[in-house]
Amino acid sequence: MKDVKSDPDHNFLSSLARYGEMAAVHLWSKTWIMLNTEHNEILSRNQRSLLLPHGPWTERRRVMHPLLSGTVLMTYGDWQELESDVMSANYIEDAGLCKGLEDLQEVQTTFTNTICTSVIDWFPELDRILRFLQPWRPYWNKMDQRNHDVFNTWWKPVKEKFGSGTAPPSFVRDTLLHENTKFKSDELDAMYLTMQLIEAGSGTTRETLNIMVMAYVFYPDVFKRARDEVDKICGSHVERLPIMDDMENLGYICALAKELLRVGFVLNGICLSNECESSDEFRPERWMNGHVQDPLHGMWQFGGGRRVCVGYRLAFRSVFVNIARLVYCFDYAAWTQILKFCGPTDEPFPIKIRNMPIFR
Ligand code: HEM
Repeated sequence: MKDVKSDPDHNFLSSLARYGEMAAVHLWSKTWIMLNTEHNEILSRNQRSLLLPHGPWTERRRVMHPLLSGTVLMTYGDWQELESDVMSANYIEDAGLCKGLEDLQEVQTTFTNTICTSVIDWFPELDRILRFLQPWRPYWNKMDQRNHDVFNTWWKPVKEKFGSGTAPPSFVRDTLLHENTKFKSDELDAMYLTMQLIEAGSGTTRETLNIMVMAYVFYPDVFKRARDEVDKICGSHVERLPIMDDMENLGYICALAKELLRVGFVLNGICLSNECESSDEFRPERWMNGHVQDPLHGMWQFGGGRRVCVGYRLAFRSVFVNIARLVYCFDYAAWTQILKFCGPTDEPFPIKIRNMPIFR
């Protein structure tokens, strides 16, 4: 990089703005400057806000923000608890995934795993050459089509109900497609925006809970402490389930949630997980610093700044209530020997529910 002393007004850095927003990542001894990627065009028809440049990103962010912050979070709290009941029941009954969810999960994993793997992510100029001269195009087009089709199977019934006037209240009905909508875009965009919310909010939370189960096997003392904490609040004979309002009194569960998010490096990569002291130790206590209920304090797992995860408050509440209940109601053990603690994404997961203290 150019010496700052020879460029005190940062003209060189300012001139780089034409390439879009940038992020600096320190990887071992090197600093990488990440520019905007063309991936969004090739796999998302320029519709996933996550990878959009500032202008079109702003419009999408504007409509998503009120959906996921402020007083609505209180309303969602009841639904999140209900969802958590259903999830706990599924742990007992081994309900498996329905086809629609499996497809969505596959599309989402493919999307995240392929970021920065296309040749045009690294050499964006190649995207300007004639399409038929781009040998990688058919491969990506096929993936893009599959992504679009899976999204559409979720979107179509909602759209049909909207058309026939039978759709229940929702973000789609009342914000994106409403006749008085201030959302300035077309239906394709509305579909990607809706599905991006489902996609971004589900896989990340699911993986964090998977990692919790794996951590349980490796760090039983941590989980004993976590259960003791819930026992004190909810009773040692499962008098009641933990709820959202217990957050203030379940500091260790919040700390455990933050530590799981840290080691899970769901989206942000291992370098950010290491941004703390003794990063190879699994130690929820590190977060008991007076800010344990604030998911952004000291942590980058939800990103930061203007582009911070738009659902981070909702996500943290969800992770909290589910961890509190899973820790309280179930014991876990490995089916086979698991050699290394890692962020698992593959399922089926080699873990069984050993017994259910819910019946203790
Ligand atoms: C454990 C759960 C979650 C984690 C770890 C997580 C993490 C992230 C991260 C790292 C980003 C990128 C931020 C950046 O660009 O700097 C992001 C973006 C995003 N997240 Fe989350 N997220 C989670 C849950 C959720 C939930 C529950 C929702 C919505 C219901 C959500 C919706 C989104 C959306 C829409 C974006 C793109 C935002 C934009 O383009 O402005 N996420 N998330």
